[in-house]
Amino acid sequence: MDLPSRPELFDFHGVSMTHYFTDNWENIQNFQARPDDILIATYPKAGTTWVSYILDLLYFGLTSPEIQTSIPLHQRVPFLEINVPSVDSGIDLADNLPTSPRLIKTHFPVQFVPNSFWGENCKIVYVARNAKDNMVSYFHFDRMNMVEPEPGDWSSYLHRFMEGKVVFGSWYDHVNGWWKKKQTYSKLHYMFYEDLIEDTGREIDKLCCFLGLTPSVEKKKKITSGVQFDNMKKNDIVNHSTIPFMDFKISPFMRKGMVGDWKNHFTVTQNEQFDEDYKKKMRDPTLQFRTEI
Ligand code: A3P
Repeated sequence: MDLPSRPELFDFHGVSMTHYFTDNWENIQNFQARPDDILIATYPKAGTTWVSYILDLLYFGLTSPEIQTSIPLHQRVPFLEINVPSVDSGIDLADNLPTSPRLIKTHFPVQFVPNSFWGENCKIVYVARNAKDNMVSYFHFDRMNMVEPEPGDWSSYLHRFMEGKVVFGSWYDHVNGWWKKKQTYSKLHYMFYEDLIEDTGREIDKLCCFLGLTPSVEKKKKITSGVQFDNMKKNDIVNHSTIPFMDFKISPFMRKGMVGDWKNHFTVTQNEQFDEDYKKKMRDPTLQFRTEI
């Protein structure tokens, strides 16, 4: 099989993107959402897979156990904008999903989301992760994922991240854009990776409240355990090990799954520079992240 090659980053409507996520732009923008579709929106590496699996288990865990063990999660929860050779496009997968509701994921900044999701008043779950850990995770992901641009060394990556010169653009714009949307769009549940780490059960309860689900105590217990890092890491259906363009020898997809790994990467100077720049960009006092718990 011919593996796709590493792409170049370019400016696309003011956001750094690669052609793997823009080639199918017309079809993506014309995508017809259904009222019961649930969109899982995140900046890359914020916990998309974790929340996708939680939702998948909440909706389909008991009704279709055979699917749970045979079809990889990335096919059950299509990545709307992806269009990479050797795997099905997100649009094709989404259009052919037999489930109801359909769970669909996107890394788009809020202004790129196809209109039909707003028009149909779909429920949206947004997951955000603190910038430092998010960046560390993204750096290692870009090393192992051949459809991402070369990350280069850590120091240059850090500066590019601060400038928003990574795929899907600026983390700062992304988390703020979606946060602002929450003020006017009531069907948006904004959650934090750090909260999920702190108390997964509590966050699942909040999610259920938003989704209008009432799982039994036993089901909730099963889900909470199934989505723990170590269990997901060894579960080939969810750990992305079947994706052909990811090289787990360089770095596994389920890497560390923790809050505070940034401390093993940032130098003191880099941390000071980052914090200084962060203050300038993150001016909304109502949006607060935790870099340790
Ligand atoms: P790390 O690289 O810091 O380990 P995404 O799914 O958005 O690509 O995010 C991937 C990140 O979420 C990775 O972070 C991965 O380990 C982490 N993750 C996935 N499942 C998790 C879980 N069950 N518990 C904690 N972290 C998880």
